[in-house]
Parts: sequence; C-alpha cells; structure tokens
Amino acid sequence: MQDAELDENLDMRAGAVRLHGPEGFAGMRRAGRLAAECLDMIADHVRPGVRTDRLDSLVREFVLDNGALPATIGYRGYRHASCISINHVICHGIPSEKTLKDGDILNIDVTVIVDGWHGDTSRMYYAGEPKVKARRLVETTHEAMMRGIGAIKPGATLYDIGKAIQSFAEAEGFSVVRDFCGHGLGQVFHDAPNIVHYAEYRDRMTGLHRAADTPLKPGMFFTVEPMINEGRPDVKVLKDGWTAVSRDKSLSAQFEHSVGVTETGVEIFTLSPRGHARPPYG
Ligand code: MF3
Ligand code: CO
Ligand code: CO
Repeated sequence: MQDAELDENLDMRAGAVRLHGPEGFAGMRRAGRLAAECLDMIADHVRPGVRTDRLDSLVREFVLDNGALPATIGYRGYRHASCISINHVICHGIPSEKTLKDGDILNIDVTVIVDGWHGDTSRMYYAGEPKVKARRLVETTHEAMMRGIGAIKPGATLYDIGKAIQSFAEAEGFSVVRDFCGHGLGQVFHDAPNIVHYAEYRDRMTGLHRAADTPLKPGMFFTVEPMINEGRPDVKVLKDGWTAVSRDKSLSAQFEHSVGVTETGVEIFTLSPRGHARPPYG
C-alpha cells in the first residue's frame, strides 16, 4: 500500500487513472489467480513454532516455480517475497527468524508478476487458536473489505468504497487505519488512484479529509485492502523503515483483493480457488 497523500494530490492524479481492456482483464485473471493460489498453499504451513522467514521462502519458491516473479523483491529496497504482519503489526512486517505462537493472528501479503501483470492479495491466518476478540476483528475486517468491494460499479465513486468500509468497521467498535491505502495496479505495482478505506476523517493538524468523489469506470484496476485496528487507528513505523504497528499496540487485521471495474459491477481477480476466503481454513 502507499502512504495516503493529500487530497489535492488525489484530485490531480484522478485524471490519470488508466482504463484497461480485455487483454488487461485476461492478464489480471492470471496474476490474481496465482497470487490467490499462493495464499491457499501457505495456509497448510501456518502453525505455532514456524518461522516467518520459512513461510516467506515457501512463497518465493512457489511464485518462481510457477514462472512468475515476486513483485516485492527489490521494490524500494525490500528484500522478501511477502510481508508477514503479526498481531499489532498493521502491515509491511518483515519475514524473520521469529516464530509464530499459539493464538497469533497474522496477515500474509503477496504480490506476483505474471507476464507483466500484478496480482496483489493478502489474508489473515491463525496460528493455533486465537482469542474471541481477535477472531471478531478478523471476521469484521474481511466483511468490511467485501462490503467495500460490493460498493464498486460504474457510476459509484471512491467515496462509496470508503463509506462502506468505515461505517461497518466503526459500528463494530473498531477503527480504520488512515496512513496506508489501496492503489491502482496493473502493469504498474502502485498506480493511481489511491483507495482510502474511510469516507472522511478529521486530522488535528491537517483538518477534514474526505475521500475523493472520483467516479468508477469500467476498466479501472485497483486493490481494496483495509487495515482495521482493535483500538486507535494511529500508526508508528519502526526503525527498520518498514514495519508499521498500531501505536497503542492493539491488534490489527487486514485483507486485500485486486479487482477490476466491469460494465455492470466488479470482478475480483484474487478469489481463493479453494474457497478459502477467511480463516479458519480447511
Ligand atoms: N503488497 C503490499 C501492498 O499491498 C506492498 C508491499 S511493498 C513491500 O501494496 F515492499 F513492503 F513489500
Ligand atoms: Co496492495
Ligand atoms: Co499487498
């Protein structure tokens, strides 16, 4: 995800949103499917005691064995095939020798490049048995993402996506992270437009922010990838320059799909071929 930018910037970039044709949809179906298969594969390996760099190696090997490239390796100096974000880590967790513990909740985010097209998707996983509240956060985050995606059709706007996500997540007592957002993608990894997962919010320093009214048009490709916190939405990035955590150390969850706007609605490119939408899997 990209850092959220100022509204002026969003508006300027809105004119530059690319519209794709049938070959774009075909390319995104292939890339999205492989990314989703990778997340299906990794579910069999998530359990207490496993190192997150072991999971990352499995992702890298799976992607390469399938003739694709991990988009994150070499991206802005990042060196891994996945981001693995555990418990209060919001996103961009770096795979390491750290092992999973019973009750951990974690996000695994992979982006693959197939014939030049990017498939970007993430899901939550459980190591062992999570607490009831953690499970409720994960289920709410998945539902929030699906409601955001459900708002997508020609004539609707980016605002409608954020509204659907924020209203649902906040009604459940959780908060929406503002500092990271979804993004256009296709033959570019992070493209216009920014997809913010809120409708509006007030920042003490910069005032009122409202999601852009950018109309959705057939052929737009982008991700929807809300990060939802159990506590406050505030983010801190650790000294490694990547790992983003909740400032109040509360649990955070995220799901991500890559989607395309169709003539009548939306196509999700990264649905699980196994039907594994959210944990527990199988
Ligand atoms: N896959 C992430 C996203 O959803 C981006 C990760 S960039 C990395 O946009 F460098 F941190 F891997
Ligand atoms: Co993304
Ligand atoms: Co991603």
